[in-house]
Amino acid sequence: MSFAVAIDGPAASGKGTISRAVADRFDLAHLDTGLLYRAVGARMLLGIEPVEAAETLTAGMLEDGDLRTPEVAQAASKVAAIPEVRAALVDFQRSFARRVGGAVLDGRDIGTVICPEAEVKLFVTASAEVRAKRRFAELTAKGLELTPGQVLADIRERDARDAGRADAPMVAAADAVLIDTSDLSIEEAVEAACRVVAARITG
Ligand code: C5P
Repeated sequence: MSFAVAIDGPAASGKGTISRAVADRFDLAHLDTGLLYRAVGARMLLGIEPVEAAETLTAGMLEDGDLRTPEVAQAASKVAAIPEVRAALVDFQRSFARRVGGAVLDGRDIGTVICPEAEVKLFVTASAEVRAKRRFAELTAKGLELTPGQVLADIRERDARDAGRADAPMVAAADAVLIDTSDLSIEEAVEAACRVVAARITG
């Protein structure tokens, strides 16, 4: 039996942490769909044409080098605006969503485009300032040298591009449950998400 949980939201909203925790708690497979776009973006930075990079993407490339850098994130959001790139990644995401045993997918368009029939849809958000603070802590902990202002500008630029593109823009599905994590601890945010999933399972 399949059971799909769609978790969308902007960068550093907490959706990745929430998705992993929900997958763990309910024993579901997890796919971070941002990694697909990051891998295509990283290949574009190597000089490969983006549509070709998306069409020839393999699972191994998701583990190639560090995809969690600001440069790769910006490249990901640029290639993500190309309809042919998105089209090349649809089938893989849809079959993952319908795998036996159930799945959690997190991204920007899971509840709207990839899996509009998902059993649970969440839209996880937080203020740009809070998200920038979290991402700044993450990136500096990895040894990257940047300023909080650069991280905030980067997040704002990516939000605008992701929400403004014509194809599969970042938007909450009409039937998504909104979780604003600005003033929540990780535990509180995870519990809020798990309550929604548990309620759907028990009907
Ligand atoms: O989630 P993450 O920040 O890793 O995603 C990187 C970029 O990939 C996003 O800024 C967005 O442009 C793109 N993306 C997307 N659709 C998804 C997941 C990510 O367009 N489902």
